Amino acid sequence: MTQQTIRKAVIPAAGFGTRFLPASKATPKEMLPLVDKPLIQYGVEEAVAAGCTDIIIVTGRGKTTMEDHFDRSPELEAALEARGKTHLLELVRSIATLANISYVRQPEALGLGHAVLMAKQLVGNEPFAVLLPDDIVHAQPGCLAQMVGAFAETQATILGTEVVEGEAISLYGCLDCTPHPANTRLLAVHNLVEKPSPEQAPSQNAIIGRYILTPRIFAMIEQLTPGAGGELQLTDAIRALLKHEKVFGFQYTGQRYDAGDKLGFLQATVDFALQHDEVGPAFRKWLQTQQF
Ligand code: G1P
Repeated sequence: MTQQTIRKAVIPAAGFGTRFLPASKATPKEMLPLVDKPLIQYGVEEAVAAGCTDIIIVTGRGKTTMEDHFDRSPELEAALEARGKTHLLELVRSIATLANISYVRQPEALGLGHAVLMAKQLVGNEPFAVLLPDDIVHAQPGCLAQMVGAFAETQATILGTEVVEGEAISLYGCLDCTPHPANTRLLAVHNLVEKPSPEQAPSQNAIIGRYILTPRIFAMIEQLTPGAGGELQLTDAIRALLKHEKVFGFQYTGQRYDAGDKLGFLQATVDFALQHDEVGPAFRKWLQTQQF
């Protein structure tokens, strides 16, 4: 069998962002900035750093600023050029050349499985990545790059996972899994449950918003009936996939933030601000002078 590589990444970005109202009323939550870059740009950059050349953003009504963000901006570029702001000019231009970005609309918010299904035609018959832009992973190499490395070995579906504490498991897809005999970062998945109650959770291994999926997932999604929350759940489609193919969990190294949540967003902001070339040192100094 020829080795398959991951060239395409799907980024679902059609949700309402209710946890971020009122900020997300007229601005997509994916466009909220962590220091100076919108959340979704972190996802796109992580996919590109993992070797993806084609990014498919699943979008919806009221979200066109994402398309403007990744497009050329001739007026802004001309103004920056005229003022000799070369650094900013390069920065602005580089966003439009990050990758081949396509957009597909999800007409109704029917769930994550349904959002991924919207990308079926653009993905075609090859394995692909899914990144949920709310999950920001600070890692070097990036989380998806780590998973692509594991995919070279498994050539099978891989789910980013981490162990979460106590009742938090009921916020996630949860794995029933055992350690892989040969690779300490991989878990052999036997079953999956979306948002189990803490009593019913088969483990504390949560799925995070990073997936490498084989194209058979689309047929599994097409056969889904509504699951947790009345939505077409990607987790349920992966459980159906288990009847045909192996599925692995992958214990990434890095720090993840749920930036779709106010607290997680603030924590990510502090982390990224402290690392930031321009404001990092001054921000650290200021924090040290504060009495909390
Ligand atoms: C989604 C998935 C869930 C996964 C989570 C990771 O849930 O359905 O399986 O654990 O992302 O962030 P959501 O957070 O969209 O409710």
